[in-house]
Amino acid sequence: MGDSTELVEVRRDSLIDVEHLCTDTFVRHAEFFDTLGSTNDRALELAARPEVPTPAVVVARLQTAGRGRGSNTWWADDGALTFSLLLDTARWTITPRDWPRLSLAAGVAVCDALAGMNLESRSSLGLRWPNDVLIDGRKVCGILIESPGGAPPAKDRLIVGIGINVNNSWQAAPPDAGPEGTALCDVTGRRHDVQTILFGVLRALAERLKQLADGDEQLPQAWQQLDLLRGRTVRIDTNGHHTEGTCVEIATDGALVLEAADGHQRIYSGIVTALER
Ligand code: BTN
Repeated sequence: MGDSTELVEVRRDSLIDVEHLCTDTFVRHAEFFDTLGSTNDRALELAARPEVPTPAVVVARLQTAGRGRGSNTWWADDGALTFSLLLDTARWTITPRDWPRLSLAAGVAVCDALAGMNLESRSSLGLRWPNDVLIDGRKVCGILIESPGGAPPAKDRLIVGIGINVNNSWQAAPPDAGPEGTALCDVTGRRHDVQTILFGVLRALAERLKQLADGDEQLPQAWQQLDLLRGRTVRIDTNGHHTEGTCVEIATDGALVLEAADGHQRIYSGIVTALER
């Protein structure tokens, strides 16, 4: 391990080889917890500590208080992959107006990693703006991006929290987990190695974050290819308001372009429901 890397916690019974997270990926600080409330909450604590180098990753085998977007919770049983990445905004030249693109970049990176796994050929993988990853129309991954705010260094950092249903079959999900989830094991009928998926997503994130920082057009091309909403009638809920219309495209700045009754609108954040019409 080089001088610039830091290893925080190595457990012999850890599901994740924490040491290799720091040597084989762009991560410079790694923590694994057997059980934790929320990896995003732990990353929020780390964000305020200047001695913690970034990118830092927090992984939990089991979350007891996983958080989703809005007021949602995130269900994840044993066998799920739940982790949060703490990033330095200056390193990746991310300003607040880049947050929609960051959100999409994270979703694209998860798709990259899952696409490399040779899921069954009939499985269709795609993105529901801004960053839900769906397989065969059902959500397999959710992403929660948070800005710690406050004083430096926290205010100059961002958290990307990612939950992927891997070996936690959706059949065991409680009714309040939502109607339309799935897990990789449900899609393929077999178990998958959680660590391989974590390393794959981190490597893809390093690549997509670089494209984001460089303004590389391959990134918007990727989210436009993965876009599952184009041409669909959708409802978008943003801060208590909702708008309906047809999704025209996901623009290069990360906006969902909506053809609504009163013309085209550009929407930068919200929760989308595709309407059956
Ligand atoms: C959503 O789709 O609503 C976002 C779900 C995000 C879940 C992940 S799991 C790891 C990280 N820790 C949390 O508490 N939430 C995110």
